[in-house]
Amino acid sequence: MSAKIIDGKAIAERVRADVRKKAEAFAAKKGRRVGLAVILAGENPASKIYVRNKIKACEDAAIKSFSYELPAETPENKIIELVQALNEDKNIDGILVQLPLPEGVNEKRVLEHVAPHKDVDGFHAMNAGNLMLGNPCLAACTPQGCIELIRSAGVEIEGKNAVVVGRSNIVGKPMAMLLLQNNATVTVAHSRTQDLKSVTSRADILVAAVGIKEFITGDMIKSGAVVIDVGMNRHDGKLYGDVNFGEACEKASYITPVPGGVGPMTIAMLLSNTVAAAEKNA
Ligand code: GUN
Repeated sequence: MSAKIIDGKAIAERVRADVRKKAEAFAAKKGRRVGLAVILAGENPASKIYVRNKIKACEDAAIKSFSYELPAETPENKIIELVQALNEDKNIDGILVQLPLPEGVNEKRVLEHVAPHKDVDGFHAMNAGNLMLGNPCLAACTPQGCIELIRSAGVEIEGKNAVVVGRSNIVGKPMAMLLLQNNATVTVAHSRTQDLKSVTSRADILVAAVGIKEFITGDMIKSGAVVIDVGMNRHDGKLYGDVNFGEACEKASYITPVPGGVGPMTIAMLLSNTVAAAEKNA
């Protein structure tokens, strides 16, 4: 089998065009643009690229971005004070704190100060909890993007065996919740899972979110599976997924490439969450 490529870039373009229409309608109605605050603390090179891409995407989607670049030495309380000021700011609809935060800053504490209704990353305990309960909420962007990619391939999620490899709060756990909401039978595997291959080999839908270059090899994939690769592993200046793409193409029916798969969707869903937050809170 030679897998069909799910073109995340093209699908993200469609989402972004839709977001732009909504953002323009919001601006026409409310007399101000939808606003997203982006906080970047420290000098992490990957974070700088992500943030630059997010700010550029805001411009393209008629969303006004407010950028806050803080030195790595900024004390935790100063970051929290900024978050609290942005919580009160009527021109700000969404707040994004780029992770990781510098060493010594308690990420969890900072994120808990973001007002849940402005938490467009979906990282606050209130949003994570509501996602688990199936209540309306701002859900994490990358998992939402993965669901859109699976749907765009015309693949029915209901009733399928879905395996998520990775249990992070940002991707693995919310991914499992969204698949469950879509009536998949969900297994979450991780670094301590015994005989991982026997677990992944049962997956009709396999989501790889482990953060290890080409960790998922062809022999771990069921023939005809849909493979969603969340990995972004930089190695010698090149970007690699968590899946061995060449091998996976021989087994999967559909696969997302790296780059050009999940990455563009994360940003598209961030914009979508930001406009949704603006509309809801207006
Ligand atoms: N760092 C890596 N991925 C993300 C993300 O989706 N949001 C934020 N805020 N930080 C990240």
